[in-house]
Amino acid sequence: MGGLALLVVALSFFLSSPKDSREPPELRPAIPIIGHMIGMFRYTVFYYATLRGSSNVPIFTIVLPGSKMYIISSPPLITAIQKLTKAVSFATMAAKASGRVAGCSDAALEIINNNVDLSKGPESDSFVHSFFKAIVPPLRPGSSLDAMNRIMIENISGSTNALAKRTPTRINLAKWLRREITLATTNAVYGPENPYADEENEQAFWTYEQHIMLFMIGILPSITARKGLQARAKLADAFVQYFTKEAQAKASALAQMRYSCGREWGFSVEDIARFEPGNAIALLSNTFPTAYWMLYYIFSNPKVLEDCRQEIESATKINQGNGTATHTIDVSAIKASCPILASTLQEVLRYRSVGMSVREVLEDTLLDGQYLLKKGGTVVIPSNVLHTDPAHWGADVDDFNHRRFLTKTSNPVAFRAFGGGNTLCPGRHFASTEVMALVCMFIARFEMEPVGGWPSPVVTDVKIWAQIIEPHMDLEVDIRARDLGAGKHVWEFGLTDSELQFALAAEDK
Ligand code: HEM
Ligand SMILES: *[C@@H]1O[C@H](CO)[C@@H](O)[C@H](O)[C@H]1NC(C)=O
Ligand SMILES: *[C@@H]1O[C@H](CO)[C@@H](O)[C@H](O)[C@H]1NC(C)=O
Repeated sequence: MGGLALLVVALSFFLSSPKDSREPPELRPAIPIIGHMIGMFRYTVFYYATLRGSSNVPIFTIVLPGSKMYIISSPPLITAIQKLTKAVSFATMAAKASGRVAGCSDAALEIINNNVDLSKGPESDSFVHSFFKAIVPPLRPGSSLDAMNRIMIENISGSTNALAKRTPTRINLAKWLRREITLATTNAVYGPENPYADEENEQAFWTYEQHIMLFMIGILPSITARKGLQARAKLADAFVQYFTKEAQAKASALAQMRYSCGREWGFSVEDIARFEPGNAIALLSNTFPTAYWMLYYIFSNPKVLEDCRQEIESATKINQGNGTATHTIDVSAIKASCPILASTLQEVLRYRSVGMSVREVLEDTLLDGQYLLKKGGTVVIPSNVLHTDPAHWGADVDDFNHRRFLTKTSNPVAFRAFGGGNTLCPGRHFASTEVMALVCMFIARFEMEPVGGWPSPVVTDVKIWAQIIEPHMDLEVDIRARDLGAGKHVWEFGLTDSELQFALAAEDK
């Protein structure tokens, strides 16, 4: 033990890099050297909030063996860092990680890493920057997003119709939601030849997703991540077939843009196919948990359910004719006139958000004229650090309050569910429309009760790339149709004014 203690002391002397007094204050762990690593392992992303809690500084440094992290917890510093797009970069990290996660060719790696450092050249010389730029317009409110939304609501409507036919019934809520949302989303993006319509490919995606961490670590993946590699290869094959058939020509502007941008930059069809499952992480991993937690918090609280139902009823038109009542839920009307629902969505996102914006410091940089960020350090903005700070949300910060967003919060930059700055989530309009459409249709048509009560929403396993906590995957619920009076009832969606959007980020004015 004595020898070990000596080793620790010697190591900590060796590892404590000379610190510049202008760097953000360092928070040292109780156990030298490995304390932060134990904390991160044990508390995952919530570790940073516990550190912030004891210090209350706007930015702090934590030193790990071989690396240094700057954790930002104040909105003004977030605004400041988001302006430093050259010296502090997300793209360089994305470039390094994406090759490993996709398993692409060396030629593709070269294209990805070329000119990604913006201190060396303009955005237009870099594939990564050009790609992130190119996929924003197809996801912005407008005709191509409309086309995606139409397919998506048609499918959500189909899912709820199929469920209604089976009622009363018992389903596994998470599994049902994940399948239906995955189908609606991928049909909207990939069109009639959507590879994920084949349930085996969908299963392969979730297997692949489980193995991302092992791909990133990259130690003997053929042994440590064998199943993940098989799933990844299966998906790449499916997408090679898809692009070979030119199926993207019948799909969304987003799918077309991703393919044509890749081709323009010189990627082979095989490499573009290998990147598709990675793109699907953003597309699929967070919408379903958001919808799950919406249903969870609405149905587990009668008052929330009543408030939300009332709003939906006022946004629903009923046409009586021929013994049939046709209920039309206008998605645009929900955006325009359902403030409690919108607030509930934001509160769910605030409450269940576990995302981190991560950036690499490419050169010594003075932040806000006072904090020195050293080259090679990593800047981290963990959303929950902002989302759990009473300074921004008040003394009831730990409570779920579905009306919280009806009144203005102190600073919209403190809401980080969709990130911000140049990595602001471009999918937020599509994702929020999908969650709202599903949730509104569901609570208007069904009663739901969990078998054996609501499980407490404990957090077990948070993946480092997740933005929203993964739900319980085994929640059995009893579903029955609501009593809406005699006669036949038909439900459909309307989409009138597509320019309307939910304000979900400081950037959405
Ligand atoms: C409720 C669902 C979603 C949530 C909570 C969410 C959240 C986020 C967050 C927090 C970021 C920023 C990460 C960072 O700062 O590093 C992000 C980035 C991104 N999201 Fe989403 N997202 C969702 C759905 C979607 C969907 C449906 C799509 C695609 C249609 C999408 C596409 C993207 C892309 C491409 C980026 C990277 C942007 C860039 O770095 O330039 N997201 N998302
Ligand atoms: C989903 O939408 C596509 C395209 O509009 C349609 O062909 C398909 O039948 C829909 N599926 C369901 C289950 O509604
Ligand atoms: C009324 O219902 C009958 C029988 O289902 C059908 O033939 C007829 O077309 C319907 N009329 C209208 C206006 O929907």
